Amino acid sequence: MPATLTSIRERARVLLQGICHVCPVCDGRRCPTGVPGMGGIGTGASFRNNVAALAAWQVNLRVLHDRKDQDLGLKLFGQKLAFPILGAAVAGARVNFQGRLTEAELARAFVLGAAEAGSLSLTGDGPVPELMEAGLSAIKAAGGRGIPVIKPREDAEIVGLIRRAEEAGAVAVAIDVDAAGLVNMTRAGQVVEPKTAEQVAGLAAMTPLPLILKGIMTVADARTAVEGGAAAIVVSNHGGRALDHMPGTAAVLPEIAAAVGDKIIVLVDGGVRSGVDVLKMLALGARAVLVGRPLAIAAVGGGATGVQGQLEALADDLATAMRLTACGDLRDIGPRILRKSW
Ligand SMILES: Cc1cc2nc3c(=O)[nH]c(=O)nc-3n(C[C@H](O)[C@H](O)[C@H](O)COP(=O)(O)O)c2cc1C
Repeated sequence: MPATLTSIRERARVLLQGICHVCPVCDGRRCPTGVPGMGGIGTGASFRNNVAALAAWQVNLRVLHDRKDQDLGLKLFGQKLAFPILGAAVAGARVNFQGRLTEAELARAFVLGAAEAGSLSLTGDGPVPELMEAGLSAIKAAGGRGIPVIKPREDAEIVGLIRRAEEAGAVAVAIDVDAAGLVNMTRAGQVVEPKTAEQVAGLAAMTPLPLILKGIMTVADARTAVEGGAAAIVVSNHGGRALDHMPGTAAVLPEIAAAVGDKIIVLVDGGVRSGVDVLKMLALGARAVLVGRPLAIAAVGGGATGVQGQLEALADDLATAMRLTACGDLRDIGPRILRKSW
């Protein structure tokens, strides 16, 4: 019998005992672990705020219209994607998942599962080279359909890893700039640092690949990303894992998209759990979203098949949400479908 998403999540619940409860809705309220682990840093407020900020938006039902067929397709970084939902960078099998799967299994599940679903996944980096290596080799195995995310290391080190991304055939390369003080790195004595606009410009000029800055939470940083020549930003608080007491991404996305949305590609992640959540993020100004923990759970329970199934389920859910808000394609999605809850 083929595995269903329910059986995949049940399997993950057993395998992740003591790390993640695989809650019906992953909202950060019951996480048995923080960072390292699957939860958020400190009080977990930044993680919970992501889910709460999305919940603060409601959607306007529109069912008297002729948009019966939904087209979810888009082009991103020169690639045709079946839908605007990507795999987020999730790495650190040994520390975050206590070795319940290997780094290679984790990276391959995300990258190959997303590619099979007609989308893309990002991959992560960390204190030991194994993390970046696993991501790069998964991306190579997927014919380049993936985006490695490099920690904000010293520039010379980043350039070396950008070359490796180019060799792997990656469609773009990213830096998670919000990891400038990430405990996983600092505790291991690894140098990570904030970057100036000049440094960003220097790094962007080093590669023909689009450079994505992940971990932008303010208009000021978004403008610096534009100034530095980045191709895209990810509005992200690292799933609430970088700094405690940050707002949810859905709360800051509208002002960031209004400020730079016509100059740079705006992506977002944090707390996206359903097709309605995806719809809300697109209506708030994002071109596409990234999903982390739900795909990590699917990866643990079902490998690449699990990730593919979870992504496709989110896409089906998005199609229904678009149909019920009179959206035929992604261009139809805008502020008119949203209402702030009171
Ligand atoms: C266990 C775990 C490991 C992660 N590792 C990385 C990483 O190596 N690089 C990175 O840029 N982000 C990393 N993230 C953050 C995700 O890319 C993403 O920003 C976040 O998970 C999105 O929020 P969500 O999990 O609520 O969907 C990690 C997240 C988790 C939960």
